[in-house]
Amino acid sequence: MIEIKGLNKTYHLKTGDVAAVRDVNLTIHDGEIYGVIGYSGAGKSSLVRCLNLLETPDSGVLKINDNPEIVIRDGKASLSEKELNRMRRGIGMIFQHFNLLDRSTVFDNIAYPLKYSGKSKAEIRARVFELLDLVDLRDKTDVYPSQLSGGQKQRVAIARALANNPSLLLSDEATSALDPEATESILNLLRRLNQKLSLTIILITHEMAVIKSICQKVAVMEDGYVVEEGDVYDIFSHPQKPITQKFVNSASPLSRVHKMIEADSELVRTKPGELLVKLTFDRDCVGESVISTVSRDCGINLNIVLANVDIIDGAPLGGMVAILSGEPENLEKAFEYFDRAHIGVRRY
Ligand SMILES: Nc1ncnc2c1ncn2[C@@H]1O[C@H](COP(=O)(O)OP(=O)(O)O)[C@@H](O)[C@H]1O
Ligand SMILES: [Mg+2]
Repeated sequence: MIEIKGLNKTYHLKTGDVAAVRDVNLTIHDGEIYGVIGYSGAGKSSLVRCLNLLETPDSGVLKINDNPEIVIRDGKASLSEKELNRMRRGIGMIFQHFNLLDRSTVFDNIAYPLKYSGKSKAEIRARVFELLDLVDLRDKTDVYPSQLSGGQKQRVAIARALANNPSLLLSDEATSALDPEATESILNLLRRLNQKLSLTIILITHEMAVIKSICQKVAVMEDGYVVEEGDVYDIFSHPQKPITQKFVNSASPLSRVHKMIEADSELVRTKPGELLVKLTFDRDCVGESVISTVSRDCGINLNIVLANVDIIDGAPLGGMVAILSGEPENLEKAFEYFDRAHIGVRRY
């Protein structure tokens, strides 16, 4: 388990102070894929760099797995160099730009962190091949990073990060420089490693689609603070803060409706007596046969403009934008039904 309590980090620049991490409190359980999302400058990288003390926080308490609790006061951490090294060995990290050694082969890049582990040459060799198999890159053993695609470079970086069998992997925008296909393949690999190795992953991103794809929990950061936190499903189905709603909308095909309204598209234009609505249904009501119920039992027409069902953390989350039309009392009946069935309604 990872516990972060009251964590603060301020950078002191000539131009003034920048409070990058402010009073962050998080608990991350073993085996979770925990997402941290925020716009550029929100403090995400500072937060993860504080976790392995690449950056020394100003204050706070950190408990990383079975390491002793670290108390940080006035920018000083309560642990010896030996304890720090032990803790760092239990944490792997990957980055947006891979940070590989360009003049070393794939083999040497992965072997690098094993150099000072006290292992023999033969043991290192065996471990590197094991890691190459794990990330499916055995055929690239002797090539240089410049000869690899972005996705392959990230696979090398992942193998290197896992060399010392860490229980925690920090991923700082690891897919942000990759095309959608390579992103998908790296996310699949992370998911597989999470399951196979019981690896806890803290995954930083500015893309809600990444969170939706592999995280179970998410924290939303803004201006150094964690402003919202919880199960990914709950955050997607009921985002509370404006910034969270913005992120959720950014990952929803239904949000196209706003552009269509702005452009006065005839698909969303309503006549008198018609209503343009967004209906959302979560795992508690997704089985409801919404369309047939409102048309049959309430006697209204429901004209679908956009529709989508996502599977988030294994559960369905659906929505549609539709034009409703019918007699006012029938529309009233439909809205009562939506309410009873816990279907979210937004009128435009
Ligand atoms: N090493 C640094 N020195 C000074 N300021 C920094 C440093 N790293 C980050 N910052 C500042 O801290 C804030 C948070 O940055 P960062 O943690 O990189 O955010 P994110 O990863 O969410 O983009 C930003 O205002 C950034 O300019
Ligand atoms: Mg960053």
